[in-house]
Amino acid sequence: MLQKKDRYTVSVVGATGAVGNEMIATLEERNFPVGTLRLFASERSEGKTLDFHGTPIAVEILTSKVFEGIDIALFSAGGDRSREFAPAAAKAGCIVIDNSSAWRMDPEVPLVVPEVNPDDLDWHKGIIANPNCSTIQMVVVLKPIHDAARIKRVVVTTFQSVSGTGKKAMDELLNQTQDILNFKDIRPVVYPHQIAFNCLPHIDTFMDDGYTKEEIKMVNETKKILGDDSVKVTATTVRVPVFRGHSESLNIETEKKLSANETRAILSTAPGIIVYDAPEKNIYPLPADTANKDEVYAGRIREDDTIEKGLNLWIAADNLRKGAALNAVQIAEELIKRA
Ligand SMILES: NC(=O)c1ccc[n+]([C@@H]2O[C@H](COP(=O)([O-])OP(=O)(O)OC[C@H]3O[C@@H](n4cnc5c(N)ncnc54)[C@H](OP(=O)(O)O)[C@@H]3O)[C@@H](O)[C@H]2O)c1
Repeated sequence: MLQKKDRYTVSVVGATGAVGNEMIATLEERNFPVGTLRLFASERSEGKTLDFHGTPIAVEILTSKVFEGIDIALFSAGGDRSREFAPAAAKAGCIVIDNSSAWRMDPEVPLVVPEVNPDDLDWHKGIIANPNCSTIQMVVVLKPIHDAARIKRVVVTTFQSVSGTGKKAMDELLNQTQDILNFKDIRPVVYPHQIAFNCLPHIDTFMDDGYTKEEIKMVNETKKILGDDSVKVTATTVRVPVFRGHSESLNIETEKKLSANETRAILSTAPGIIVYDAPEKNIYPLPADTANKDEVYAGRIREDDTIEKGLNLWIAADNLRKGAALNAVQIAEELIKRA
């Protein structure tokens, strides 16, 4: 349990990365009660500083000895670092909120989206997992529909931006776009194929059954967060040449019938969602509009007339923010409320 304090010693592990940078900005913007902020990354970042509330803070090299005296550590330095360092941090009395997939499906570790299952924070043992970015934005929308009409099945297709892969992938999209427009040859490094002017139906590694790990994460994490194994999810995850903001097409089958209008009404009063749905005025969620926004945008809400009780939706959210940094900071805020 977190000890109640006026100000907390907070650390960001992976501070120089795409998510780490966003975490620092989110702590600052939300005026999180930080007493001391400590920033960690690899040897590559030795000597760098990052600003917090206008003050430069030196980036320190991550070791297992650094966690003494830290209250909350926001981890976003990849699964290997989380597996190696999170237990040491928890042992030192620090609460870890981990962005990687390392601990998400561990039955001893709660997987939390504050709008959906905040009470799962009550049973943490020092490590709390932040779900996958595409799962987070989906469950924020599924939860109120599930509460109102019990979801039986979800068919989701994602359109995920390159920032979901990190900084190097953002550089790759920029460089490839410039090179192709200048008739230069390109050489994919981060992705197995050209990402500029292309779509890759391949996120994370393929499993024996033909699904990718990203697709399986969406299936398993959704059941764990909703606390309901009966919800069937099938996913196709696609990387698209967008810098920031993931979009998803959702087809949802429910037990009780919901009309499109009822769904709009339910979603418009649910936490963390903006219903953005006036197609006659060309109003629908766009990844470009969600950059730096906290909410999940939901639109194109229609009844699926090929089944008795079904809905189609299009959602978009900022993957670096609600899909990662914001959700982690919201978890920390919820821990403080419960301290
Ligand atoms: N991007 C997203 O939308 C998103 C969403 C949810 C979860 N995540 C997860 O968040 C994590 C980070 O993602 P990202 O997109 O921010 O990646 P990124 O831009 O590549 O940043 C990686 C960060 O990890 C640090 N790091 C790497 N190796 C390290 C080591 N040996 N010791 C200490 N620090 C090390 C890097 O430090 P250096 O700069 O020193 O190399 C950098 O700060 C991943 O686990 C990812 O799956 C990402």
